[in-house]
Amino acid sequence: MTTRRELVVHAVRAMARDVLAVELRAGDGAPLPGAAPGAHLDLHLPGGLVRSYSLVDALGAPTQAAYTVGIARDAASRGGSAWVHDQLRVGQALRVAGPRNAFALEPAHRKVLLVAGGIGITPLVAMARHCHAAGIDWQLLACARTASRLAFIDELRALDASRVQLHVDEVQGAAPDLGALLAARDWQGVYACGPAPMLDALTRAAQAAGWPEGRLRMERFRAAEAAGAAPAAGFELVLRRSDKTTRVEPQESVLAALERLGVDHPWSCREGLCGSCEAPVLEGTVDHRDTVLGPAERAAHDRMLVCVSRCGGPRLVLDL
Ligand code: FES
Repeated sequence: MTTRRELVVHAVRAMARDVLAVELRAGDGAPLPGAAPGAHLDLHLPGGLVRSYSLVDALGAPTQAAYTVGIARDAASRGGSAWVHDQLRVGQALRVAGPRNAFALEPAHRKVLLVAGGIGITPLVAMARHCHAAGIDWQLLACARTASRLAFIDELRALDASRVQLHVDEVQGAAPDLGALLAARDWQGVYACGPAPMLDALTRAAQAAGWPEGRLRMERFRAAEAAGAAPAAGFELVLRRSDKTTRVEPQESVLAALERLGVDHPWSCREGLCGSCEAPVLEGTVDHRDTVLGPAERAAHDRMLVCVSRCGGPRLVLDL
């Protein structure tokens, strides 16, 4: 169950062109539950919008004084990031859910490469800070279209400038040679967050190098971009507690079917990224299409994220 609370905007700082760091604290200054590197927070914004943003200060402590998220202005923003950049002010209260972590560092990884594209830097800032404090050997590549869009670089360089490498498209021209980067050292774990073309290139490089599953871990901006999903099929949906049954057609999500049936179910990103829409599964094989659940959680088939995941058979029964 995701924890929800109201926090107050304590500080807003410009970190790069169109990138803000927003620091949130409890109104009474009480400590907040600690979050591990890779965790994100859901911000409930005006107009019913809920958006997920990674924490740059999730360092794995039992508690922390503040949550700080990095937020880039999305040119296609439907009010989420644009509202934050144009309207959010210090002192305002915001409802938040989480933190929740779908992009955790593997504790056994002691030699780690971090690869960031654009605002994908935010979870990797927390990872770099954690690695530095824990004595983990780390290296970070930050990529951006222009130097003005490189965010949090001063903080990273303050940890150890020799471990921070930059790639600016308009300066270097070509994309970074990710294959060479992966082959440069015997990395135990590579953690990447950024746009789909960069992550797809990393995936191809890891496959070409014969890497085992799990050595490359990625957080995508949009789960729907994840490759390899089979074409969607229709199935029967049964809601056991509500005593309702319907047919979910290939073009409809389970979440949309719930809404059509008048079931008030929580959601946030609607892209399989945040975990807000998790629902308990009683019967059926789940076709998981999110980026939140881990391998063991997927294999159990006892829960699913209804915004993107579907049924892999003819019938799905949810405990709703
Ligand atoms: S609403 Fe975010 S994972 Fe479903």
